[in-house]
Amino acid sequence: MEAMRAYIYEQYGGPEVLTLQEIEKPIPKENELLVSVAATSVSTGDARIRQGNPFPIRFINGLLKPKKKVLGMHISGIVEEVGSKVTKFHKGDKIYGSLGMNFGAYAEYACIPEDGHVSLKPEQYSFREAVALIFGATTALHFLAKSHIQTGENVLVNAASGAVGVAAVQIAKYHGATVTGVCSQRNFELVRKLGADHVIDYKSEDFTQNGKTYDVIYDTIGTLHFARVKHSLSKKGRFVTNNAQIRDYLAYVFNRTKIVLGVSSDDGLDKIIRMAEEGKLVSVIDSEYSFGQMRLAHERVDSGRKVGNVVMNIRN
Ligand SMILES: NC(=O)c1ccc[n+]([C@@H]2O[C@H](COP(=O)([O-])OP(=O)(O)OC[C@H]3O[C@@H](n4cnc5c(N)ncnc54)[C@H](OP(=O)(O)O)[C@@H]3O)[C@@H](O)[C@H]2O)c1
Repeated sequence: MEAMRAYIYEQYGGPEVLTLQEIEKPIPKENELLVSVAATSVSTGDARIRQGNPFPIRFINGLLKPKKKVLGMHISGIVEEVGSKVTKFHKGDKIYGSLGMNFGAYAEYACIPEDGHVSLKPEQYSFREAVALIFGATTALHFLAKSHIQTGENVLVNAASGAVGVAAVQIAKYHGATVTGVCSQRNFELVRKLGADHVIDYKSEDFTQNGKTYDVIYDTIGTLHFARVKHSLSKKGRFVTNNAQIRDYLAYVFNRTKIVLGVSSDDGLDKIIRMAEEGKLVSVIDSEYSFGQMRLAHERVDSGRKVGNVVMNIRN
């Protein structure tokens, strides 16, 4: 048996539940690639899974303790071996992709099916830049597509400086929208650079009181709800949230055409690559950590203050 290093967690909780251990190196099935992982991202999604919070997450990953003990969804790295039936990838290919709810990215090696969410890494991006694109951009693309965003619409992105927010600003712009980014003043320059036409400091201005209306209000962080924003929606306006609470689901029952909510998917990875290759999507990296610093990376994510994405370099 060959061994590798990986972060294991045996119970839900804070960053301290993650411990670096030696475990068995995975062997690719006939349809899988064995990837030597160069970098992974540490996202708010990972942090929620680590905590087992909100509770429904536990229906997927174990009620009392995690069933899958190696966390992490997104990888970039080099294909080290391919299964006997793999045709699209070869040893040595530089790839990036999502393991989704199979997890396993906090490790030196991971297996991914060739028909899964995996693609050749765009040449102009480093491993760290590529992996930092996935979480926010797949989420923002999923929710903005579901909102049927149209060219020329007025789109407001709440928390435009978070991992999802920085991608949402760029993707809304890519679709020809006029974009307003809501963030704190210290992030104005970044959010404008990503394409926002207007910026609003949430600490000094409540946009729901400024008399303006928007066709899409995308709350990427969960500080808004439908009742609060409905007067700021245009006639055809939609409130989009990737942090729906019970009140949002209740409001949805009576306002199906005006509310977009649910769970993201990784289906947009190919489109993200095209946007990245066209130079229309850049990754924003808040901070980088080396493999021994996983707990620090999770503490940074838990702070709620990161700007864009946290990257974990597994091989330096
Ligand atoms: N439904 C789904 O499938 C799905 C998928 C992905 C993510 N999510 C959820 O989406 C949420 C956001 O994820 P994320 O990774 O983008 O978050 P994040 O990166 O942690 O967001 C942090 C950013 O939000 C800003 N911020 C904090 N409070 C704010 C406020 N009241 N108004 C405006 N900006 C504020 C912070 O800026 P300052 O420090 O300057 O305040 C910081 O830059 C998470 O809860 C995640 O679980 C859901």
